[in-house]
Amino acid sequence: MIKKVIYPGTFDPLTNGHLDIIQRSAAMFDHVVVGIAASPSKNTMFTLDERVALAGQATQHLSNVSVQGFSGLLIDFVKQEKVDILIRGLRTTIDFEYEFGLTNMYRRFAPKLESIFLTPTEEYMFLSSSIVREVAIHGGEISEFVPPAVAKAIAQKVKS
Ligand code: COA
Repeated sequence: MIKKVIYPGTFDPLTNGHLDIIQRSAAMFDHVVVGIAASPSKNTMFTLDERVALAGQATQHLSNVSVQGFSGLLIDFVKQEKVDILIRGLRTTIDFEYEFGLTNMYRRFAPKLESIFLTPTEEYMFLSSSIVREVAIHGGEISEFVPPAVAKAIAQKVKS
């Protein structure tokens, strides 16, 4: 049986911390779908199409990873993809409560859905998309935190 999982998030934009989780997942499962939520309430720097394209470029070396955007509820996307495992990253205890709340909510709608939490490597423990955006907006160097295509795309956004 092919084991397919979804790694959902907003990925505005994808960072090396996300990539770390994707690579760990790809080594454990047959297929990983990076599910990019439209997240309209987040007022994102990148459009959904841009986020999907950037994540696609950053994961092109991983043959069992695909990237898909979705709008609406994650639970509906999970059902559409016929997946019963979600992957989420757990960086610090701050993530824990938020993730615990989300997991319980998902279970109400999809009782058989399991969530697996992976921790990124230590150097990415405190990394987030908003920190990367903030540093870039103020002219800081972000190339060690994001894939090259993302660094280029952020530089272009900041310039415009
Ligand atoms: N490396 C770097 N950053 C990480 C990370 C990692 N390994 N893991 C999490 N993060 C950061 C993200 O960069 C993001 O940072 P920011 O908010 O500072 O920009 C933050 O953690 C949370 O991001 P994310 O994992 O993308 O969560 P989210 O809250 O944006 O989205 C969804 C989570 C997509 C699963 C959720 O919003 C969802 O399900 N949306 C669809 C609508 C829905 O079903 N809503 C009902 C939910 S019950």
